[in-house]
Amino acid sequence: MSPKYSLNSLALLLFGGNVLGQLNKPVLFSDGLSPHVDSVFWQHLTPTQSTWDEWAWGWIPQACLNVVQDTSYSPYDMEVYNVHYTDCGSAWVICRHHDAQMSVVDIIDVFGRVAVQDRDWTQHVVALPGAVCSAGTGAAVTTFYGDCYIPSVAIHEMSHSLDGYVNDQNGNNGPNPFSSGSQYQSAVASDSCVPDPYANNNYQEDYAQVSVLAVYEKVNPGGLDPIGSWRCLVNQKNVLDSACGTELTPGGSCTRRWADSAIVSMGPATGNSKRGSFGKRGRKIGPKPEPANKKGDPLVSYATPSNETGVRHSTFMNLVKNNTARTQAYVRQNSWNKAAGKATLPVPKM
Ligand SMILES: *[C@@H]1O[C@H](CO)[C@@H](O)[C@H](O)[C@H]1NC(C)=O
Ligand SMILES: *[C@@H]1O[C@H](CO)[C@@H](O)[C@H](O)[C@H]1NC(C)=O
Repeated sequence: MSPKYSLNSLALLLFGGNVLGQLNKPVLFSDGLSPHVDSVFWQHLTPTQSTWDEWAWGWIPQACLNVVQDTSYSPYDMEVYNVHYTDCGSAWVICRHHDAQMSVVDIIDVFGRVAVQDRDWTQHVVALPGAVCSAGTGAAVTTFYGDCYIPSVAIHEMSHSLDGYVNDQNGNNGPNPFSSGSQYQSAVASDSCVPDPYANNNYQEDYAQVSVLAVYEKVNPGGLDPIGSWRCLVNQKNVLDSACGTELTPGGSCTRRWADSAIVSMGPATGNSKRGSFGKRGRKIGPKPEPANKKGDPLVSYATPSNETGVRHSTFMNLVKNNTARTQAYVRQNSWNKAAGKATLPVPKM
C-alpha cells in the first residue's frame, strides 16, 4: 500500500466520522452527483483555448514538491508545464507525475472548462497516479490521484479553494472557510436535504457538492429544474451563490492570481546546473524557469495562500467517464499547440 492510500483512509477516518460533524441530512441523490451532472457539463462547459509548454527537467514549484513528498512518488518523475489559457495573460503552472492516469491534455481540458474566475483561486494543479479517482485540495493547490478527467470532480475540488479564500482573501484569518460560518450552516439547517451522501461528511464537503449544482444551474439551459426536486437544498445553493456565484460563472477573463509557489530544485540528483539524466525520458536539466505569476504583477495582490482549509481529500461515487471528450480534447489541444509552434502529443486510442 502506498502512503496515498493510508492518507486516503486517514482522511475518511478524520472527516467521515461523527467527530467532525456529520450532517445526517436526507440526500437529493443517493448515487452521487456525477451520473446526474457530468453529461450536461461535458456539453455546456466550453473548453478554453490554450497552449502548453513543458519546463526543462529539474525544477518544480515548492507547492508541487510538498504534495509529492507526502507520497511514495519521486519528485524526479514529475513533469511541469506552463498552461497559457487565452482568458488570462499569465500561465498556470501544473505538475504531473509521468505515470499519472491524467495526461497533460486531460488536466488542461478539465481545468480549462471551469470558469476562469474560479481558476483564479487555484495556485497549482498536481496529477499523481491512483487506481481510482480521488482528489485533495489544500492551500489553493488541487491534487488529482488517478483518472479524475471529470468536470464535477474539478468543480468540487476548486470550490474548496473558493470556500477557503473568497471571503478571506489573503487567508490570514486562520482556518476560516465560508462553510464554517453561521450564514452557510443556518442555510443547511433550514434545508431538508444535502446533495448526496458525500456531502453529509461535513460542511466543507457539502459546500463543494452544492457548488457543483450551482454551476449546473448556471450552464444548463433549463437550469436545475430538469435535474429533479432540488429545492430541498435551495437555501444552501442561494447562500453559496451569494458568496461565490460570480466566481462559478463561466466567461470573462482572470481578475486576480496567486503568486506562484517558489521554484525549487527537484532534489540533489538533478546535479544543479550539471547535465541530469533521469526518469523515463532521460531529461536534461535546464535553466531555472521564471515564475508565471509573482508578487508585484498587476493581478497578484496576495502572495501566498495560507493552509486555510487543510487538505480535503475526497473520493467520489459512480464517476461517469467520457472518452469521446478526451479524444476531442487531444485533437483540439494539438491544433492549438501546433498553430503556436509548440509540441503536440499522439492522440491516444480509446
Ligand atoms: C462527452 O463529451 C462530449 C464532448 O464534450 C459531449 O459532446 C458528449 O455529450 C459527452 N457525452 C456524455 C455521455 O456525456
Ligand atoms: C496543510 O495542512 C494539512 C493538515 O491540516 C497538512 O496535511 C498539509 O500537508 C498542509 N499542506 C501544506 C501545503 O502546508
